[in-house]
Amino acid sequence: MKELEDKILEKGQVLNHDVLKVDSFLNHQVDSQLMYKIGQNFYEYFKAQPITKILTVESSGIAPAVMTGLFFQVPVVFARKHRSVTMNSDIFVADVYSFTKKVNNKISISKNFLQSSDNVLIVDDFLANGQAIAGLTDIINQAEATLYGIGIVIEKTFQKGRQMVEQQQIPIKSLARIAGFQNGQVIFAEE
Ligand code: G4P
Ligand code: NA
Ligand code: NA
Repeated sequence: MKELEDKILEKGQVLNHDVLKVDSFLNHQVDSQLMYKIGQNFYEYFKAQPITKILTVESSGIAPAVMTGLFFQVPVVFARKHRSVTMNSDIFVADVYSFTKKVNNKISISKNFLQSSDNVLIVDDFLANGQAIAGLTDIINQAEATLYGIGIVIEKTFQKGRQMVEQQQIPIKSLARIAGFQNGQVIFAEE
């Protein structure tokens, strides 16, 4: 997605050789018009599928997921990282391993909001090591729902996530694919 790549080149900051800071339009301040077009792009790519629900993980996945849900005219559910006081015991829980902190964190979704009849599209802001995707996939399997695809805003092709998703043969669309960073500059992957 040309407009997203241009935004990454203009506003993204490369940190620690493998992290792209995009706080000014995705992870803190949100560019609503860009998010709208991101939702439209995911819709164009997956619209032939009978999607009934968009799934993501709080917090940075919510903005692109909601815009995608708007185009599909379906609800958006975000997995919570911390159990809310209003969440009863009827929840699906999955582990999400953090490579940076070397700990397992839990994500959860209420059983009220994911049924076996659901056809799911996962949307997330980043694909790095694929642990968020693995956790959501686990929950979708627990619910006996059907996963139809994964929409990623920014993929880093040099980390483990892409390979993991491809092994499971789940259709995936990444709107920007980063092959690496060189001297603080973003290098996009060839399509
Ligand atoms: P994974 O889900 O692909 O395994 O991601 P990983 O564990 O490597 O990363 C954990 C967190 O870091 C996730 O956000 C993920 O979106 C984010 N992340 C990964 N790579 C980058 C990057 O290059 N730039 C930025 N800005 N974020 C990255 P999170 O902890 O779930 O936080 P939230 O922002 O969704 O609240
Ligand atoms: Na995320
Ligand atoms: Na994030």
